[in-house]
Amino acid sequence: MTKPQITPEFYFQNRRVFMKYGITFGMLMLLPKTIFAGDAKKSSIYTLPKDLNLTKEDVATSYNNFYEFSLEKDGVKPKAEKWSLDAKSWRIEISGLVENKKSFSVNELIEMAGGVEERVYRFRCVEGWSMVVPWTGFSLAKLIEKLKPTKDATHVQFQSMSDAKVFTNIKSLPQYPWPYTEGLTLPEAKNELTLIATGMYGKDLPRQNGAPLRLVVPWKYGFKSIKSITKIEFTKSQPKTLWNQLAPDEYGFYANVNPEVAHPRWSQASEKILDKSFLPKRKPTLLFNGYEKEVAALYKNLDLKKNI
Ligand code: MTE
Repeated sequence: MTKPQITPEFYFQNRRVFMKYGITFGMLMLLPKTIFAGDAKKSSIYTLPKDLNLTKEDVATSYNNFYEFSLEKDGVKPKAEKWSLDAKSWRIEISGLVENKKSFSVNELIEMAGGVEERVYRFRCVEGWSMVVPWTGFSLAKLIEKLKPTKDATHVQFQSMSDAKVFTNIKSLPQYPWPYTEGLTLPEAKNELTLIATGMYGKDLPRQNGAPLRLVVPWKYGFKSIKSITKIEFTKSQPKTLWNQLAPDEYGFYANVNPEVAHPRWSQASEKILDKSFLPKRKPTLLFNGYEKEVAALYKNLDLKKNI
């Protein structure tokens, strides 16, 4: 049996229909599977470190610190998954000592920063565990250029969303100074490494990892990498941060990864490589988490032992 041929007349008369559906189908094939992480080019500089492996995606997305949801590492994801987040209508308010004071959508910020790229970074938590994660995001420096801080601005403060209907654990921690806040000096915020992440592992950021956008500061302990940001304010003094207010002797404003400065309750000389094995491997911790070349100049006049 031969297939019935489509006659030239039939095709000719219906070519608009063929073209319409052909094009629509083609466009569907091209549509990114994500909203914010779709067509990220891989960074040529920040690729997988030679001596390390990428942390498995299911480990990095199910072992979380996000106290607004839960204090248990594995309790965050199940709670966060119930959050009906509408990432497209999320707004980020830009305020303080800056010309471009306005509230923006995530896509507007991505556009202003010139698009997203994928960077593989080491990530070290102050608790002593570490991961290697492929983040998708944009350089905060590029965004800051467009936002135009005034000449008086010296610092940047970030604030997380604090809707207690979503972040149900806020109610059980009344002593915590919510909303979660973090801060950087302006030169730190403008360092090439400082990333606003909108995705990981080639997908949009999962809610438990700080959707729809979070900070990633890979040379600092993980608590600086604030999740689910709704406000960015430019200030003329060091801003208050949640952990520093709660326990200033344990969590400084700088929080640079440093194997020689122990946490008051444990050593920071080595770290556990996060994976699912029964006996996870450890490795020595590196100064600035291995990013000395990029950031050491920021601290040349600072005593890192005093300014924790
Ligand atoms: N941001 C908010 N809003 N709330 C938090 O509890 N925890 C911080 C940081 N950002 C936290 C946060 C800490 S302590 C760490 S180690 C990282 O998020 C963990 O990020 P991850 O869950 O994506 O690994």
